Amino acid sequence: MKISVFGMGYVGCVSAACFADQGHEVIGVDVNPQKLAMINRGESPIIEPGLDEMLKKVVSAGKLRVTDSADEAVRGSDVSMVCVGTPSRANGSLDTHYLDRVMEQIGAAIADVDFFHVVAVRSTLLPGFVKDRIIPLLENASGKKAGEGFGVCVNPEFLRESTAIKDFQNPPFTLIGQFDQRSGDVLAGAYSFLEAPVHRTEPDAASMVKYASNAYHALKVAFANEIGAICNELDIDSQRVMEVFAEDKSLNISKAYLRPGYAFGGSCLPKDVRALLYAAKHRDLHTPLISSLLPSNDEHIQRAFAKVTGFGKRNVAILGLSFKPGTDDLRESPQVRLAEMLIGKGYKLRIFDEEVSLSNLFGRNREYIEKVLPHINELMHTELGEVLAESEVVVVGKRMKNHEQILALLRPDQIVVDLEIHDTEWQPARKEQIV
Ligand SMILES: NC(=O)c1ccc[n+]([C@@H]2O[C@H](COP(=O)([O-])OP(=O)(O)OC[C@H]3O[C@@H](n4cnc5c(N)ncnc54)[C@H](O)[C@@H]3O)[C@@H](O)[C@H]2O)c1
Repeated sequence: MKISVFGMGYVGCVSAACFADQGHEVIGVDVNPQKLAMINRGESPIIEPGLDEMLKKVVSAGKLRVTDSADEAVRGSDVSMVCVGTPSRANGSLDTHYLDRVMEQIGAAIADVDFFHVVAVRSTLLPGFVKDRIIPLLENASGKKAGEGFGVCVNPEFLRESTAIKDFQNPPFTLIGQFDQRSGDVLAGAYSFLEAPVHRTEPDAASMVKYASNAYHALKVAFANEIGAICNELDIDSQRVMEVFAEDKSLNISKAYLRPGYAFGGSCLPKDVRALLYAAKHRDLHTPLISSLLPSNDEHIQRAFAKVTGFGKRNVAILGLSFKPGTDDLRESPQVRLAEMLIGKGYKLRIFDEEVSLSNLFGRNREYIEKVLPHINELMHTELGEVLAESEVVVVGKRMKNHEQILALLRPDQIVVDLEIHDTEWQPARKEQIV
């Protein structure tokens, strides 16, 4: 394919060299004449292992050339990959002036071409940005309509400086946020040499995957450092702790606990987070990340409460009271917290959970629920039909075994707030969720 790369910085230089190395014909565009001169000599303008050699090879083979003319680049390529910087402003918002300028230039060039040119935004941009700002800029400058006269995709990049070539050649996946199928097809062609899976999503979902990834990486570093700092205070070898920790690929380093749903609870997580925080505090150690876990969880329960009470209906059912399916453990169940809050505000609450039998609750589990919901006997019902018949809002707190029976009893005038299970439909009732 013929590919233009706008912005010959870290991302652009590596991408341009790697695409050219795969046999694509690449035109690199930058406003910086020194960078262009260096690349023309086959020298890398950035320090990146292996890039000098690769640039030398592809430039001398005539597979990569550079220019400062957007017009020339767009005319000579099927796709423009935009990799200009999107730095932070002082308030955290994105400074997009480089991007705005590039889009005006590309748009003006698109006005003069008679083929379907695709603009792929590789710069990291917040969701909504491409639709609300980039597309209008391109449409104004080109006088053409996106999806008809030209194509647009969001195509985030995941490479890391210092291992950029290896990362580019072995990505976890290729992510194409497409506004239309045709644009996505053109862009997918540029990556056909990679074996990694290709995910084609809504444009905003693609932008969000990039932010979720970087936020998660930051979270991991901060978490490891806080655990390390606690270890240090306790004279424990933090390297050994995290080495063993990371060996658990079923819960720790895995998909587990990464599905958006309802708050955590139960007899272990809240208690153990509190104990760890106590140990840190006891040693005057400030651990803001771990300290934020319980408040963050509570915030999520508040979101559920705001959702349930936002409909202006007073009759509420909670289906599923224990903290997860397959247990009758009510200790620190976030559904119990929600019930407590609703009762506190005078809502008429009915609870159904076939896994919880009050007469079979013993010990701490019983003590807990009697303390938190003293009138639990009056709230818990054993007849699902009776609970649903009287309720306007039905909160589903966990996967229910009797799903079919619930569906048969729901009415179109009811609202189901599904806190956990997003692959489930609740028709004829209206489905609402908090994540
Ligand atoms: N650096 C990384 O490791 C990395 C990884 C993934 C994603 N990203 C994202 O990719 C984007 C680019 O990052 P970077 O680190 O490569 O940026 P960079 O600052 O190294 O490079 C940007 C380049 O764009 C050029 N430029 C500016 N205006 C231009 C114009 N009108 N026409 C052509 N070129 C122009 C600049 O001269 C510069 O060479 C950012 O949004 C960044 O967040 C970066």
